[in-house]
Amino acid sequence: MDKIKIIGGRQLNGLIHISGAKNAALPLMAATLLTDEKVTLSNMPMLSDVTFLNKLLRELGTEIEEKQDIINAYPSNTYTYQTKDFKSLVAPYDYVRKMRASYYVLGPILTRVGHVELSLPGGCAIGARPMDIHLNSLEKMGAVIEIKNGYVIADAPKGLKGTHIIFEKASVGATCNILMAATLAKGETLIENAAQEPEIGDLIDLLTKMGAKIEGKNTSQLKIEGVKSLKSATHQVLPDRIEAGSYAIAAAITKGRIHLAGAVAEHLKTPLNILRAMDIKITEKPDGIVVNAQNAVMTGQDIMTDYYPGFPTDLQAQFMALMTVTPGASMVTENIWENRFMHVPELMRMGANINVHGHASAIVRGVKKLSGAPVMATDLRASFALVLAGLAAEGETIVNRVYHLDRGYEKLEEKLKAVGADIERIKEED
Ligand code: EPZ
Repeated sequence: MDKIKIIGGRQLNGLIHISGAKNAALPLMAATLLTDEKVTLSNMPMLSDVTFLNKLLRELGTEIEEKQDIINAYPSNTYTYQTKDFKSLVAPYDYVRKMRASYYVLGPILTRVGHVELSLPGGCAIGARPMDIHLNSLEKMGAVIEIKNGYVIADAPKGLKGTHIIFEKASVGATCNILMAATLAKGETLIENAAQEPEIGDLIDLLTKMGAKIEGKNTSQLKIEGVKSLKSATHQVLPDRIEAGSYAIAAAITKGRIHLAGAVAEHLKTPLNILRAMDIKITEKPDGIVVNAQNAVMTGQDIMTDYYPGFPTDLQAQFMALMTVTPGASMVTENIWENRFMHVPELMRMGANINVHGHASAIVRGVKKLSGAPVMATDLRASFALVLAGLAAEGETIVNRVYHLDRGYEKLEEKLKAVGADIERIKEED
């Protein structure tokens, strides 16, 4: 398994291009299953999660054409998807176990052909991650659902029916799945307490181009009038706000200045406000955001993760890494996932002073210096937090289990090297 070696202590200055958003790309790819016509997605990030979902789509019967493109002077992939007929209606255990987002195929296949079998994903490193909201909502829309041998077997031979659904929690995954299912259901579906993350807005944009009738984009109430069929469309994936936020924190932790080309400030309001409160200069440009921490006199800040537009849970670990070297005390509260402090013991091995209270909050007291160490994390964002700690630490840090980073950060070493980091990948045979 590859490792990443970092020699810390360098100030990062320069430009980083922000890639297409992983968490937008995955539901967009599943949405292509809703039609037998061609759907083209550009600005697709080059990530293992995308490659993996492409593999599942091919198994289901999707033909995929791939080409390299230049978007805003930066290379990315463009894929054209077409699922004329399904070869299989089963999303097997091996796929869903390795990537939960495989469950996005549930809503589209069920609504288009009336039957689907999906392995239940089970829990993961950050929490139990149930699917009850997805399944209860599909049942309300008339699906008959059975759980057998670890699989969800869903049937709706006469199609799904529009209905009024109130989500118990503003789940991103359930909002995407039910939104896609409702586009081809009979009549009107009203979703209340829908998630409002920008990635959902991106999905609504693609579905609308495909002919879906959806009202309420960027609100918690979505009204979908089902249509008979959807058609061909072309769509550019929006920039990754979590990648942008992660590199904004890289500028902060190294007291540098990074131009995040392509980043959208509107999608990062809460985290950017926290950085501003730390005396970091944030400048919005027509082509992105400049984060300048060169002369900042930083002090600890409290954060609480919440549904969008609150502080994103997917930036919590990275923010905590920053707090470990920021003078003063900071309180970090995780409200979305029940087990998302797995980075804490690793940060402490590098010299961080962190006290965890229960499973939801931690007090971080800034130390003068972290020291490099071999570390590993159990999920994508925690792994990036360790990269950040390594960039700030004295000496050498080796981040193990790099496959986590490859799921969500395109060309990580290349991007960090370009702004002055001393970072390299050590290739190792499995
Ligand atoms: C998405 O996961 C993201 N993944 C996650 O990013 C992100 O952390 C999360 O949204 C929250 O923003 C993708 O977009 C692929 P949820 P998702 O359904 O959709 C509970 C990353 O690092 N819940 O919004 O799975 C759930 O347990 C990943 O890129 C139920 O109770 O998250 C959690 O407490 C990690 N029942 C809360 O809702 C359900 O049926 C929010 O989960 C569904 C969810």
